[in-house]
Amino acid sequence: MELCRRHRVLVLEDVAYRELGFDGSTLPTLWSLGPDVVVQAGTFSKILMPGVRLGWAAGPAEVVAELANAKQNTDQCAGAFGQVLMEAYGRAGHFEAHAPAARALYAAPWAALGDALERHMPTGARWSRPSGGFFSWLALPEGLDAMGLRPAAEDAGVAYVPGHPFYPGEAGGAPEMRLSFSHLREDELAEAAKRLADVVRDAVSA
Ligand SMILES: Cc1ncc(COP(=O)(O)O)c(C=O)c1O
Repeated sequence: MELCRRHRVLVLEDVAYRELGFDGSTLPTLWSLGPDVVVQAGTFSKILMPGVRLGWAAGPAEVVAELANAKQNTDQCAGAFGQVLMEAYGRAGHFEAHAPAARALYAAPWAALGDALERHMPTGARWSRPSGGFFSWLALPEGLDAMGLRPAAEDAGVAYVPGHPFYPGEAGGAPEMRLSFSHLREDELAEAAKRLADVVRDAVSA
């Protein structure tokens, strides 16, 4: 934060999954450490429902004023009724009450996917072991390309998001992919990992 302050770098902190650590623990937010150099962007999509289309931004007043202008010029404003419902829900303490159930919802699916990746993925594949949220980030064995592997994965009935679009510019992320464990059942995730591992193994030996 001190370096950002000194060099006048504004940080955008995305806290979409912050409340969804499996064990409920959190680190201090960047915004709490440097409210003068950080804009924190949050969403209610992951902790309540995506359809409500509401989130928040906290940061230096002059930046937030510009954001408010941009928002008003884009869609006038978010629906007032939804905002009132959200405020009532929050003030009644429902976020805190609901959080343990939301965390528990994702811990077991990750355990199922993580176990199956350990069991089936060939040597050379690496993946993150998240302590919360919805995703693991997988790097393929040397020489493989996540975009190129997609047709074979689709034939096997497995979908993932290739890593490349997550990087700025043309380069980056080609051998990487995002695996989601937020939607499928545990047995489905285990099967998906096995099928994906077969696709990767075939590509390695091709
Ligand atoms: C990391 C991250 N940040 C922010 C968002 C924004 O969610 P929404 O547009 O539903 O508020 C998402 C949604 O998938 C996300 O994955």
